[in-house]
Amino acid sequence: MDLFEYQARDVFAAHGVPVLDGAVAETPEEARAAAERLGAGVDGGRVVVKAQVKTGGRGKAGGVKLADSPQDAEDKARQILGMDIKGHTVHRVMLAPAAAIEEEYYFSVLLDRANRTYLAMASVEGGMEIEEVAATKPEALARVAVDALEGIDDAKAAAIVEQASFPAEVRDQIAAAIVKLWGVFTAEDATLVEVNPLVKTADGRIVALDGKVTLDENADFRHKDHEALVDKSAADPLEQRAKEKGLNYVKLDGEVGIIGNGAGLVMSTLDVVAYAGEDFGGVKPANFLDIGGGASAEVMANGLEIILSDPAVRSVFVNVFGGITACDAVANGIVSALALLESRGETVDKPLVVRLDGNNAAEGRRILDEAAHPLVTLVDTMDDAARRAAELAGAAGKGA
Ligand SMILES: Nc1ncnc2c1ncn2[C@@H]1O[C@H](COP(=O)(O)OP(=O)(O)OP(=O)(O)O)[C@@H](O)[C@H]1O
Ligand SMILES: [Mg+2]
Repeated sequence: MDLFEYQARDVFAAHGVPVLDGAVAETPEEARAAAERLGAGVDGGRVVVKAQVKTGGRGKAGGVKLADSPQDAEDKARQILGMDIKGHTVHRVMLAPAAAIEEEYYFSVLLDRANRTYLAMASVEGGMEIEEVAATKPEALARVAVDALEGIDDAKAAAIVEQASFPAEVRDQIAAAIVKLWGVFTAEDATLVEVNPLVKTADGRIVALDGKVTLDENADFRHKDHEALVDKSAADPLEQRAKEKGLNYVKLDGEVGIIGNGAGLVMSTLDVVAYAGEDFGGVKPANFLDIGGGASAEVMANGLEIILSDPAVRSVFVNVFGGITACDAVANGIVSALALLESRGETVDKPLVVRLDGNNAAEGRRILDEAAHPLVTLVDTMDDAARRAAELAGAAGKGA
């Protein structure tokens, strides 16, 4: 999960990284009040108004503006709120006191998957053009591998600072900030912590002016407080409901709902459905849903409910390979799931294509045959079932 800049700022502050004061506003009027609180217009005090979107290049897109009075901050916020930056609509701005910037540096630490290690990067040429620096002047960007067990202590930070050739008078301050940023990285289970720019102010202080943090969702279980950082407004409502039900669901933009057991099986189901769909007007999978090994009737019902409530879905492909949970149990699960949904008052009106294979497949098919649900079609092989589901979705599309 990526954090907004204002959230990164709060996390930095909590771990002792030097940051500026900050405030968040969702309306121009709130921005005005925040600017007033931050001293805009008093003794020449200025503030920056910054678009809060989870993408880079805000400054270049006009999403970072200086304001010299509360009224000016209100006007600038009015210009920035609602702006579209690379497909992200700005719903919030952050206000911060304008810093007297003397130099802009760069620092980041991230998970270097290719080299199976962590990597710290630092440069005296920070600011908005860091990608260009990395591409055209790679020698200006120090890259230092960080051992996962040793991390960044004072000595390691000093080595990074040395390698990046930071000016002598700020080395100690930058090294101290780097140790704190490593603290953020490990304590919050981040996969990326980036500061661009890390600035030297006119009075010689080092401050993180902009922060990017990516948290590792696999570690969410030990960070109850990270829940509050989730941007609920951006979440897909179906994904949100699936998450509440503990389902491993990802919304895609096709028409064939998919349920399977085992992530690998579901991934290949997406492929065969997309391939078969080419013959039926280009229909595609509508979602990824892995209900796991021991799928009970309730899990099947919850999965079906999510998929059937997706208005884009025109047919559903249930692809199960019986293992520890045998096919007869899965078949009973499907039958009870349909009954459960109907008893909950959900309308089940989309065709289901079911393919059962593996442990006790014959018994599973017998159960479904016997139940003879009008919307359920049994198909023996995965390819044929994918084709049938795509065909049904294609036909429903024409009828609509
Ligand atoms: N508090 C501040 N005071 C003075 N200038 C600032 C302040 N915050 C940002 N700036 C200036 O605006 C520039 C862009 O700001 P920032 O780094 O936050 O956005 P960005 O780099 O455009 O966004 P992104 O990091 O998303 O690409 C900075 O390099 C800096 O020169
Ligand atoms: Mg930046």
